[in-house]
Amino acid sequence: MVISHNLFMSKIRDAAEEITSTISHNSHFLVGYHFDADGLAAASIITKALHRIGATIHLKVVKQIDLETLENFQRATSDAIVLVDIGSGYLDLINELVKSKRMFVLDHHQMNGVADEIMHVNPHLFGIDGGKELSGAGVAYLVAKAMSEENIDLSPLAIVGSVGDMQDKNDRRELRGLNSIILRDAVEAGLLKVDTDIVIYGRETRPIHKALSHTVNPFLPGLSGEEDNCLALLASASIPVKTGDRWRTLMDLTKDEKQRMLSAIVDYLTSKGFEGSTAINLIGNVYILLKEELWTPTRDAREYATLLNACGRMGRPSLAIALGLGERGATLEEASRVLSEHRKALADYISFINSNRKVVESFKSMVVIHGEDFINENLTGAVSSMLSSSETFPDWCAVVVSAKTKTGDIKISARASEELTRRGVNLGSILQNLARKYGGFGGGHDVAAGAQIPNSKWKDFIEELDCELSGFSEKWNP
Ligand code: C5P
Ligand code: C5P
Ligand code: ZN
Repeated sequence: MVISHNLFMSKIRDAAEEITSTISHNSHFLVGYHFDADGLAAASIITKALHRIGATIHLKVVKQIDLETLENFQRATSDAIVLVDIGSGYLDLINELVKSKRMFVLDHHQMNGVADEIMHVNPHLFGIDGGKELSGAGVAYLVAKAMSEENIDLSPLAIVGSVGDMQDKNDRRELRGLNSIILRDAVEAGLLKVDTDIVIYGRETRPIHKALSHTVNPFLPGLSGEEDNCLALLASASIPVKTGDRWRTLMDLTKDEKQRMLSAIVDYLTSKGFEGSTAINLIGNVYILLKEELWTPTRDAREYATLLNACGRMGRPSLAIALGLGERGATLEEASRVLSEHRKALADYISFINSNRKVVESFKSMVVIHGEDFINENLTGAVSSMLSSSETFPDWCAVVVSAKTKTGDIKISARASEELTRRGVNLGSILQNLARKYGGFGGGHDVAAGAQIPNSKWKDFIEELDCELSGFSEKWNP
């Protein structure tokens, strides 16, 4: 497909014009959004943009597109619906089931079906990789900016969405492609600063050993989640963790101390038999939101994303939207509490999986973590992302984490290793097709995708999934 940024930007303008004219006809808008960091950032952006031109808005979290969700849309009192960070994989269903509404889909997922009746904005339509170059929040931002230049103040939130979707997962940990347009807007408006530094969680806010132990991207085996080991590592590198009574943060470290810390991490990982090169992923671009208070988690784009994600996944999406719309104070305190619960739940899952290997089933080209009896269906994605970046399993296999849903179906979150994507695996399209074949729904990106299928089809489904993935291993010539 021919890549055309100009055509994409022209589509953005069309969508912005149509949204604006729909509002001028007094339409009531329903904003449906996915409940991860990117979806929540996207919803905040579009809600603010709609509110600024006087729209009446109702917000609804959309965990997945299925028949029930679409029937609810059809019954909604709003006459226009904007879906953000969700929808592109389900265009034919939306077209068929939501006939009486003006539909806008602002998304970056891989597409399925045609969008005859839908205003569909997606970079993939123009040959641009939505998995790496633009997030759902990025699409929402570009439309918002085309609605009014005033919305440039929302650019930092779009950056939060992009890092939330790990679009910086490359050798330099930097945002690329169309994300650069948003970065430029944010920097030129004095809202964002980009530095190169050690990318650990809580650079500005946490004591160094805590920041290191809270870092899961990259996952540092023996250090992530292991505060005592992190303290010992810092002591071995002669890095004081306190100045007087005050804990030091990464910001307080000298260049030399940072260098010593990185070397100590590399030595630690290699001594445990892991790749020291994982530590290289600790250096990269950090995105600092200059209008946010110093020492608060919303000042660093990655921390902000983690906060939004935790609220969404722990059943508190409106808390995340309130943050996205600018509330701080008690809202931020509450969100930080939810974040601790989220972190605790994930740490418990990981330690349960490590000590109960019977929940891990190995196949030819993937490992399945059977979380049906113990993982909350909303947390499979985070567990899957953590395990796939943790060197717990070999590089050539995909990680699939399952859980049982409230309705008794199976929800899965799958992540492909870099090696598998190099071999041409596209998990999003595999799950899209396979889930439908087995009476469910699925989709996503090439490296990160998910599905929901009936429990009765689960066994056949995973066997066929492994078979498809193995096809790539066999076809591969190094
Ligand atoms: O629905 P959405 O596009 O926002 O979600 C993509 C998901 O995939 C995010 O939860 C993100 O963290 C995950 N991801 C991942 N590894 C990648 C890219 C994305 O786990 N390399
Ligand atoms: O839930 P999880 O984080 O594993 O989702 C990974 C990616 O797959 C997300 O981008 C999500 O929107 C997508 N997905 C999908 N259809 C599903 C489940 C997940 O498109 N039924
Ligand atoms: Zn997204």
